[in-house]
Amino acid sequence: MDKGIIIAIDGWSSCGKSTLAKALAKKLAYGYIDTGAMYRACTLYFQSKNIDISNDAEVASALNNIQIGFKSIEGKNTTFLNGKNVEDAIRTMEVSSMVSPVAELSIVRRDLVRQQQEMGKDKSVVLDGRDIGTVVFPEAELKIFLTAEASIRAQRRFEELKAKGIEITLEEVIQNLNERDHIDSTRADSPLKQAKDAHLLDNSQLDLEASIDYVIQLIEAL
Ligand code: DC
Repeated sequence: MDKGIIIAIDGWSSCGKSTLAKALAKKLAYGYIDTGAMYRACTLYFQSKNIDISNDAEVASALNNIQIGFKSIEGKNTTFLNGKNVEDAIRTMEVSSMVSPVAELSIVRRDLVRQQQEMGKDKSVVLDGRDIGTVVFPEAELKIFLTAEASIRAQRRFEELKAKGIEITLEEVIQNLNERDHIDSTRADSPLKQAKDAHLLDNSQLDLEASIDYVIQLIEAL
């Protein structure tokens, strides 16, 4: 069933984009590009170097020193920043609370979008993010806009963080999701929005298998 296509999955924070994207990539033997991880890796770097993100020159020179890559380790997609495994470090609340302001910066977006287009140019790839179907690959053959009820998203994220041993309250998770969704969907450059030709998938009441089946049917119909 390999049609050699680009599958773009966009949507709100914590609605299961990466879970669906990874499962599809595995099923189709496609590559997977976690674009959110790239914004997170930049944020981690800026935090570790105390970069003033309101200073364009400082940000530009920092970007020159950032190398982001992905490797599969024990079957798990793993993010590397300048050769170091940062998969866990980019998922902390510290990074989550700063990533949307970083992702608002056009200078950062320009750099990461170019890298994402290069990584996906050979197709047979699934990308998830906020602007994949609108900006990164507007010509993607299949676009999904994923959504789920806010309370369900917050509960899922809360349980995910708890399982990782991160101490956090449900209220803090809700606040972080609200803040990120607000910034991500109202920023001037590439705001989160559903592409005109994207299929809307609300997975509030669907399990992963049902979501995969839905997408596979769409692929078969292409
Ligand atoms: O998918 P995620 O939660 O790991 O993404 C982290 C942040 O990065 C998210 O709040 C918005 C930003 N982002 C973006 O602006 N564009 C993308 N393509 C992916 C993520």
